[in-house]
Amino acid sequence: MLARELVFSAVVLGIQFLLCTAQCNNATTTLRDAADITQLASCKTFTGAIVVATDSAAVMDIPGLETVQGDFIAANNSLLTTLSSSTFSVITGTVLFQNLPFLTNLTLPNWISSGTLHFDTVPEPTVHDFQQNGQQVNNLIVRNTTFDFLAGLALQGAQMDTLKIVDNPFLQIINLQMGNISQSATITGSSADLVVMLPNLTYAYELNISNGSQVVLPRLQAVNGGMSIGSIKSPNISAPALTFVGGDLNITDSGLSELNMNELVNVQGSMNLVENAQLADLSGLSSLSVVGGLNLVGPFSNTTLPSLRRVQGNAIIESTQALNCSDISSTLVQGSYVCHAAVSISANPSNAAVPPDHGLTGGAIGGIVVGIIAALALLAAGTMILYRRQRGGVQEPPQQQEQSKVFENPVHEVGTEQRRRDAAEKDGNAIFEMRDRWPDRGELPGSQARPNRVRPEKRYELS
Ligand SMILES: *[C@@H]1O[C@H](CO)[C@@H](O)[C@H](O)[C@H]1NC(C)=O
Ligand SMILES: *[C@@H]1O[C@H](CO)[C@@H](O)[C@H](O)[C@H]1NC(C)=O
Ligand SMILES: *[C@@H]1O[C@H](CO)[C@@H](O)[C@H](O)[C@H]1NC(C)=O
Ligand SMILES: *[C@@H]1O[C@H](CO)[C@@H](O)[C@H](O)[C@H]1NC(C)=O
Ligand SMILES: *[C@@H]1O[C@H](CO)[C@@H](O)[C@H](O)[C@H]1NC(C)=O
Ligand SMILES: *[C@@H]1O[C@H](CO)[C@@H](O)[C@H](O)[C@H]1NC(C)=O
Ligand SMILES: *[C@@H]1O[C@H](CO)[C@@H](O)[C@H](O)[C@H]1NC(C)=O
Ligand SMILES: *[C@@H]1O[C@H](CO)[C@@H](O)[C@H](O)[C@H]1NC(C)=O
Ligand SMILES: *[C@@H]1O[C@H](CO)[C@@H](O)[C@H](O)[C@H]1NC(C)=O
Ligand SMILES: *[C@@H]1O[C@H](CO)[C@@H](O)[C@H](O)[C@H]1NC(C)=O
Ligand SMILES: *[C@@H]1O[C@H](CO)[C@@H](O)[C@H](O)[C@H]1NC(C)=O
Ligand SMILES: *[C@@H]1O[C@H](CO)[C@@H](O)[C@H](O)[C@H]1NC(C)=O
Repeated sequence: MLARELVFSAVVLGIQFLLCTAQCNNATTTLRDAADITQLASCKTFTGAIVVATDSAAVMDIPGLETVQGDFIAANNSLLTTLSSSTFSVITGTVLFQNLPFLTNLTLPNWISSGTLHFDTVPEPTVHDFQQNGQQVNNLIVRNTTFDFLAGLALQGAQMDTLKIVDNPFLQIINLQMGNISQSATITGSSADLVVMLPNLTYAYELNISNGSQVVLPRLQAVNGGMSIGSIKSPNISAPALTFVGGDLNITDSGLSELNMNELVNVQGSMNLVENAQLADLSGLSSLSVVGGLNLVGPFSNTTLPSLRRVQGNAIIESTQALNCSDISSTLVQGSYVCHAAVSISANPSNAAVPPDHGLTGGAIGGIVVGIIAALALLAAGTMILYRRQRGGVQEPPQQQEQSKVFENPVHEVGTEQRRRDAAEKDGNAIFEMRDRWPDRGELPGSQARPNRVRPEKRYELS
């Protein structure tokens, strides 16, 4: 009898052991109540997805488990109030908290890293407990939450892929210490008081920040793609280390009265400074040398850019104030140049802008001016390309030096080899065309006043 019981116990234990190892490797395990949690408690590492049932107990405290090789999902649950684990440390896949209207206690004191951390439609937990050292994620997505601040997140990884913080109308502070963002960073739809501090951010592939009061990017050196800052109340948007923007640089509808981008040398796309009600001069752009296009609309009274060598595309300036349209010499503008000022100041009419015509866009004006000679000019352009190819050792203009300097910036060194290749492909045209200098008009065979008009207007826009 005793022997049979012992055998029976052994079998039970054996089955339990098998069950345990099996459970530690289930494709998807759903946790509904304490019994489900107990079954997992003996696993230090679980491989597979863990899903909190939509009708789970209100309090889910998950002990024991340290590593999940997979996803952890708590979603569409109107019962859950507490989600906690004192042992959770690494979750290699996605951690998703979605549609959890009554979540008030999120306690994960040992959590340090996840592939993706995604909050979507969750309230600000009244209790959250994350440890503060070494938190790392590849992707952080925070959407439609009522967070005031990022619930104890203090990401510190050297590199992230994507940062997306959108539609969090109460969010007041973002202060994350990641070093590089190899894909996009988007921060929009937060509180109008939001302060964005990314003190260690050095490179980002794309950057889009709108709605807030202040943006502090003290170390940002290069943005490979476009950079857009919109509806920021602060008078001083600061990116003092920024040297290069590979796409457009848009600053719109801000309280900006003073830019601090004195290291910025090259913007490959268009620089669009539009509807910044206080921005009257460009004094914080003292190094800006080469820009794909210029679009300045607002109360400008001084558009002098002391280092400007070239506007690769069009320059469109519309000032509501008195402005000397010769601040930017039309000879530096390779596309069309349009300047309207409420009061035009110009001492030297031969160097002045194309006469204003409010009904026409820059492109249309360019089109009319070029219209008659367009066919001829296209021919000339063809000839010119051949001509340029044949002229191997053309004498380089002074700005070539500056451009080379800029291109040595490791703008393509962010991310993996594949991403680098993608980036090179994406930016390829612009970069290689910039290197392979477009001839100045004097060098063009058979060219007269403004031959470069035949260039496509938006060639440097990387949209
Ligand atoms: C694996 O997970 C599924 C879904 O949660 C569950 O039905 C099944 O019982 C689990 N298998 C084991 C061995 O625990
Ligand atoms: C939760 O519900 C929403 C809306 O029905 C759905 O789009 C989403 O995929 C669900 N989330 C999960 C993880 O099933
Ligand atoms: C939050 O949850 C943790 C773990 O379940 C618990 O120890 C703590 O008391 C809870 N805090 C509050 C304020 O309910
Ligand atoms: C945003 O969250 C609120 C609850 O806070 C919800 O009612 C609304 O449907 C969510 N909006 C979207 C677009 O998910
Ligand atoms: C961020 O920069 C500060 C200095 O400004 C430094 O003390 C800190 O260690 C850096 N953080 C990371 C995660 O590198
Ligand atoms: C960011 O990327 C640059 C270029 O690849 C690299 O030199 C730098 O060390 C990176 N910064 C961090 C904090 O990883
Ligand atoms: C940046 O965000 C704003 C606001 O959400 C959006 O309108 C705009 O299209 C975004 N720009 C880019 C380049 O993604
Ligand atoms: C900049 O603004 C222009 C004009 O509104 C828009 O076409 C372009 O997509 C914007 N670029 C970025 C990077 O936001
Ligand atoms: C947020 O910023 C965008 C882009 O500048 C702007 O179009 C939108 O009106 C702003 N929203 C609010 C509520 O200010
Ligand atoms: C930017 O302006 C804010 C006030 O809006 C001020 O507190 C802050 O010191 C200024 N920062 C710089 C770098 O000038
Ligand atoms: C215009 O700005 C430039 C550069 O910031 C400055 O050197 C110059 O004195 C200003 N001119 C006037 C008339 O204010
Ligand atoms: C307008 O600017 C040009 C070029 O800087 C300068 O030569 C000219 O004197 C200025 N005109 C007036 C009226 O200040």
